[in-house]
Amino acid sequence: MTHVAVLPGDGIGPEVAAEAIRVLDALGIGHSEHPFGGNAILDQGTPLPDETLAACRESDAVLLAAVGLPELEGKPVRPEQGLLGIRKELGVYANLRPARSNGIDLLIVRELVGGLYFGAKGTRDDGTWFDTCEYSRPEVERIARRAFELARGRGGRVTSVDKVNVLHTSRLWRDVVTELGASEYSDVPLDHALVDSFAMTIVQAPETIDVVLTENTFGDILSDIAAAVTGGLGLAASASLGDEGPGLYEPVHGSAPQIAGQGIANPAGMLRSTALLLRHALEREAEANALEQAVDAALEEAPTRDLGGSATTSQMGDAVLRSLHG
Ligand code: NAD
Ligand code: IPM
Ligand code: MN
Repeated sequence: MTHVAVLPGDGIGPEVAAEAIRVLDALGIGHSEHPFGGNAILDQGTPLPDETLAACRESDAVLLAAVGLPELEGKPVRPEQGLLGIRKELGVYANLRPARSNGIDLLIVRELVGGLYFGAKGTRDDGTWFDTCEYSRPEVERIARRAFELARGRGGRVTSVDKVNVLHTSRLWRDVVTELGASEYSDVPLDHALVDSFAMTIVQAPETIDVVLTENTFGDILSDIAAAVTGGLGLAASASLGDEGPGLYEPVHGSAPQIAGQGIANPAGMLRSTALLLRHALEREAEANALEQAVDAALEEAPTRDLGGSATTSQMGDAVLRSLHG
């Protein structure tokens, strides 16, 4: 029996997760919900309880909405540590963040379990606080391979984004990507860009971009920019994949505390993440396509407030379900 572990999380997380659960039910896919993030810290003192992790490991895929509570921001134990923890535990090093809208069809392939997020960090006796960015050759190679494969599969090309003019790790990044491109993917066009000016390219000429390969921190920032130029953060989906075991499917946005509890969050990013789950985890390609089309139709028919409309979260969900059934 197919089973999806759902982690609704905090803020608007449970609101958008509810719409995804309606879709899972409509498709007859089994699921269970588990505490995760800020609510789990408040109840159990940890953002990623052992039972939640065990349920995720046993599932075919994990569908995560969003975490983050303003009252826990900057505290020693934070919801976001649960997010980094589950990514690391599941070994989902490849974070695919597609961004599409008229004439734009780009795919950010973000390294997800290394770099600045996971390097040594701490406080020295002199009072300095530090984070370090670290990458090994195998870590760069496996994510680069993923990007080349994805680009080849769509007849596209790879732009590798780094900061080779400043960062030591970027020199390794560029060498490994260049070598792999030449030795195994000479049929896939490859170029390199520096992250600062590439951010501008996403804003000014997004239609010229195909597959973007980049490290963890740069990918985080660039994917919000790509979301903004293709309709907004509420629309952006992602899939995080490893080499084996369940993948993690989550929208790019966070818990949006300013609008939480009002029932007005846009569920499109969550529903598009559900479509990615159907495609990558369950090999239900036809249903993935149908769900993506239903979301596109619902965005026209019942846009939420972030898009200038007035539909509530559940009204957009209604529109999606109508068009899925129709
Ligand atoms: P955010 O993505 O939550 O919100 C940024 C802006 O986009 C806000 O104006 C918000 O109202 C809007 N927005 C986001 N999603 C929306 C949706 N579905 N519908 C309508 N509007 C939407 O980012 P933030 O404000 O920087 O962070 C808030 C909290 O979320 C923080 O605690 C942060 O750590 C956390 N966060 C979690 C994740 C995750 O769980 N994957 C991702 C990003 C941020
Ligand atoms: C994202 C988020 C997370 C990240 C945070 C909340 C840890 O911003 O998924 O984009 O930086 O990866
Ligand atoms: Mn982010």
